[in-house]
Amino acid sequence: MHEGNHSINIEDTDVALLTFTMQGYSSTNDPWFETYPVEGLLDEGEDVVVVDVGGNVGHDILAFQKKHNLAPGRLVLQDRPEVIANTIVDSSIKAMAHDIMTPQPIKNARIYYLHIVLHDFPDSAACQILANLVPAMQRGKSKILVHEMVMWPQGNSSSATSSDILMMAMFNGTERSISQFRDLAERVGLKIAQVFRSPTTPQSILELELA
Ligand SMILES: C[S@@+](CC[C@H](N)C(=O)[O-])C[C@H]1O[C@@H](n2cnc3c(N)ncnc32)[C@H](O)[C@@H]1O
Repeated sequence: MHEGNHSINIEDTDVALLTFTMQGYSSTNDPWFETYPVEGLLDEGEDVVVVDVGGNVGHDILAFQKKHNLAPGRLVLQDRPEVIANTIVDSSIKAMAHDIMTPQPIKNARIYYLHIVLHDFPDSAACQILANLVPAMQRGKSKILVHEMVMWPQGNSSSATSSDILMMAMFNGTERSISQFRDLAERVGLKIAQVFRSPTTPQSILELELA
């Protein structure tokens, strides 16, 4: 992997390694839908429920689908084309290539889910990723869930602090505090509505909505 222009270029030969690493990393954390209340999302409507933005090969969205079995078309996976080419999702989930540095094409989804994506990027690029979601969001309905390590004023785990250093060294990225996330959100017309702190892992879920 190497960095250029705020985005990470993934050579074909790196995709398998990235995929393996992401699936392994995700399996050490609670699924987002165990921490975030999803009951209100599980009706019989036809709108898109979750867009997993930068969702890699789809391990998170597939786990959600296995648990809640939504109708085809209501879940969307997005990542780079070379990652989507290796997706593990079935046909009930729409897998599409999408560059997160460009405007979000799926409008009015209920949830735009970003799992450990922003920490790969410095503030300018993280703002661009969030800003690209804003025009797609419907006020009062659409939320962004940012699922990441949160750096607390004290008592951070060694996995959080070591990940912070790793992100800085590899990508010019960072783990962020709530006030740093709030700053990013406010710069693009969003606000943090709620924070769901996992009882068992260092990752939390920040629910963002239009300000
Ligand atoms: C740290 S991984 C997180 C993957 C997944 N969300 C998870 O939790 O396992 C970051 C993901 O962002 C994707 N990504 C990075 N830059 C991207 C871009 N410009 N457009 C689309 N996806 C991108 C990568 O391919 C990778 O799958």
